[in-house]
Amino acid sequence: MKKIRKAVFPVAGLGSRFLPATKANPKEMLPVVDKPLIQYAVEEAVAAGATDMIFIIGRTKRSIEDHFDKAYELEHELDMKDKHDLLKLCETVPKHVNCIYIRQAEPLGLGHAVLCAEPVVNDEPFAVLLADDLIDADPPVLKQMVDVYNYNRCSVLGTMNVPRERTREYGIVITEGQEGRIQRMRGIVEKPAPDQAPTTQAVVGRYVLTPQIFEHLHNVQPGAGGEIQLTDAIGALLRQEAVLAYQFEGVRYDCGSKIGYMMAQVALGQKHPEIGAEFAEYLKQVCEKAGA
Ligand code: UTP
Repeated sequence: MKKIRKAVFPVAGLGSRFLPATKANPKEMLPVVDKPLIQYAVEEAVAAGATDMIFIIGRTKRSIEDHFDKAYELEHELDMKDKHDLLKLCETVPKHVNCIYIRQAEPLGLGHAVLCAEPVVNDEPFAVLLADDLIDADPPVLKQMVDVYNYNRCSVLGTMNVPRERTREYGIVITEGQEGRIQRMRGIVEKPAPDQAPTTQAVVGRYVLTPQIFEHLHNVQPGAGGEIQLTDAIGALLRQEAVLAYQFEGVRYDCGSKIGYMMAQVALGQKHPEIGAEFAEYLKQVCEKAGA
C-alpha cells in the first residue's frame, strides 16, 4: 500500500488579482499575520505525513526557495545574540523534509503545473495543495483527506458548498450517494454560469490524486481561458476509476482574492498567540465606533 509521501505546490500562477503586490513576489509569499501562505500549506502537508515537497515555480518564485532554505547570515546573527526563539522561527521546514523545485516555463494552467511534477512523483499517489486557499481546520484538511484516501484507495477532492452566484469561480462537482462527508463523483464542470451549474459543491485547493491523472493531463486540450485545466483531466480520470468528493471540515479563505485575504488576516489575527487578544480588542473598538 503506497502512502502519500509527496505534496505538489503549484506556485507559478501570475497572481494578477493581487497586483502590484505580486509584480516581483509570488502571491504565495504574502503573509497572513507573520507566516507566508506557502508555509501554512507546507505545514499542512507535513501534518498529513508528506515528506517530499515539490514546488512548481515560475517567474518570481526565487523567494520561495529562499524561504525554505537556510538563511546563514541571519541565523548566525540570531545565534550570536542568543535569540533562540527567533532562530526557531527560521526553521521553516522540519529536517526530515525534502524540498524540490521544478520550473514551469510558462503559466499554461494548473493542469500543466501539476503535469510538471510527473518526473518526481512517478507512479505514486500524491497531494496537490493550492497555497492561496488557506483552510483553518483541526485536524488539518489534507490530513482529513489522506485518511479518506487510506481507507478508499482512490483520488479525493476537497469540496465545499458555495453561493450559487459564485459557481463561475470554481470547478463544480456532480456526485451520487453520500456517506458522512464523502460522495462518489459522477462529473465535474469548470466554472459554470450560475444558471447552468449542476450543483453548488465546489472543488477548492486540496487534492489527493492517483498517478493515473498524468496520463489524462497529457491528453487534455486547453480548456477554459486557454489553459490546461486540472478539472478536465479529473473529468477523464473519473470515467476510468473512482474519484471521491470530500466535504472537508474547516473554514477556507480565498487568499488569491483581496477580500478573502483580508478575512484571513482578521480570523487568524484574532487567534494568534502573541497579538490575538489585543487585536480582538482593537476590532471590538472599531466595531463599536462604526456602530456609534
Ligand atoms: P489561479 O487560478 O489562482 O491563478 O491559480 P493565478 O495566476 O495564480 O492568479 P490570478 O487569477 O492571476 O490572480 C491557482 C493555483 O495554480 C497555480 C497558481 O500559482 C495558484 O496556486 N498555477 C496556475 C500555476 O502554478 N501555474 C499556472 O500556469 C496557473
